[in-house]
Amino acid sequence: MPRAARPAFRDMKGLILSGGRGTRLRPLTYTSAKQLVPVANKPVLFYGIETLAAAGIRDIGIVVGDTRTEIEAAVGDGSAWDVRVTYLPQDAPRGLAHAVLIAEPFLGREPFVMYLGDNLLAHGIVPLVEEFAATRPAAQILLTPVAQPELYGVAETEGERVVRLVEKPASPKSNLALVGVYMFGPEVFDSVKRIRPSARNELEITDAIQDLIDRGLEVRRHVVDGWWKDTGHLEDMLEANRLILDSLPRRIEGEVDDASRLEGKVAVEPGAVVTRSVVRGPVIIGHGARISDAYVGPFTAIMRDVEISGSEVEHSIVMEGSRITGLAGRVTDSLIGRNVTIARQPGKPRALRFMLGDRSEVSLP
Ligand code: TTP
Repeated sequence: MPRAARPAFRDMKGLILSGGRGTRLRPLTYTSAKQLVPVANKPVLFYGIETLAAAGIRDIGIVVGDTRTEIEAAVGDGSAWDVRVTYLPQDAPRGLAHAVLIAEPFLGREPFVMYLGDNLLAHGIVPLVEEFAATRPAAQILLTPVAQPELYGVAETEGERVVRLVEKPASPKSNLALVGVYMFGPEVFDSVKRIRPSARNELEITDAIQDLIDRGLEVRRHVVDGWWKDTGHLEDMLEANRLILDSLPRRIEGEVDDASRLEGKVAVEPGAVVTRSVVRGPVIIGHGARISDAYVGPFTAIMRDVEISGSEVEHSIVMEGSRITGLAGRVTDSLIGRNVTIARQPGKPRALRFMLGDRSEVSLP
């Protein structure tokens, strides 16, 4: 992505939402923040920080909840991206508009970009920020055409203006769904104070934007160019992984023996060892991973210190320290957390044995 520190955006701040419940990604979110689940071996949240930094934003507030310690440990002070990060604790996930409310002292009177920490955008937000800076409406929202608008927050528009927002409409008047990136001027603070909690007891950002419209203020639309993914859900997480892996170049920096075959876009990071295996890209294999007598198929991200031996894995994310050994079937469409063991046990009885955390999911043929 281009790094464009344009003077017009110098004062614009970023607000990344990285609290929330993450119920749709349980059990992983019992022990870890969903924004730190890796996509192509990099936490989702890092893509968001990169996107804001690439748009020239240098001052970023990150809203955090129960997983604050873990997020802070991963992101630090932001210097890795050449940005300054301020953590904004939210006492409970009281809604996206509540996150804006508590961020007011940090944001002050400057316009800002709000970015949902579990979202990924193919082409970044530079054109969006440029358009916002040039036109300066009260808000500008990012929209994308979707096949099933009834599942999303949908915008009704007249030209460039948004005239109405409807959450999961039964009979949608457009196919333009809200993407998790918004630009606001300070006018939004009055709106987040005026609205009341919704039926699910959250302060909804759609209600706050509707309030801006109702007050006669301008809300503009910007239709996104390229794909967008909300990774809050397993299928979307795997899809985002697929899209990012597809864009990575081939890079073999680890050890690969002569008996192995690497096909297509495969990244083997330094310190990874591949022996007697077939790896069919796009695939990334992280530092310290050991792949032996195995097949690793397309769209798989294997993190550091994972062991895969005598097994087949494809279209999956395997997080650090996990072991998959001696399986008869192929693992596919899976998200495997940290330090998980999936292994064949020698000896009798030949039975399936599990020790699974709450809300784990196992599918057997
Ligand atoms: P969501 O995915 O809408 O909500 P959630 O994290 O509670 O997830 P689930 O529906 O699976 O329970 O949130 C979008 C982003 O905003 C995500 O990164 C979490 C963050 N968030 C906050 O920081 N504070 C909040 O009050 C809410 C609701 C979300």
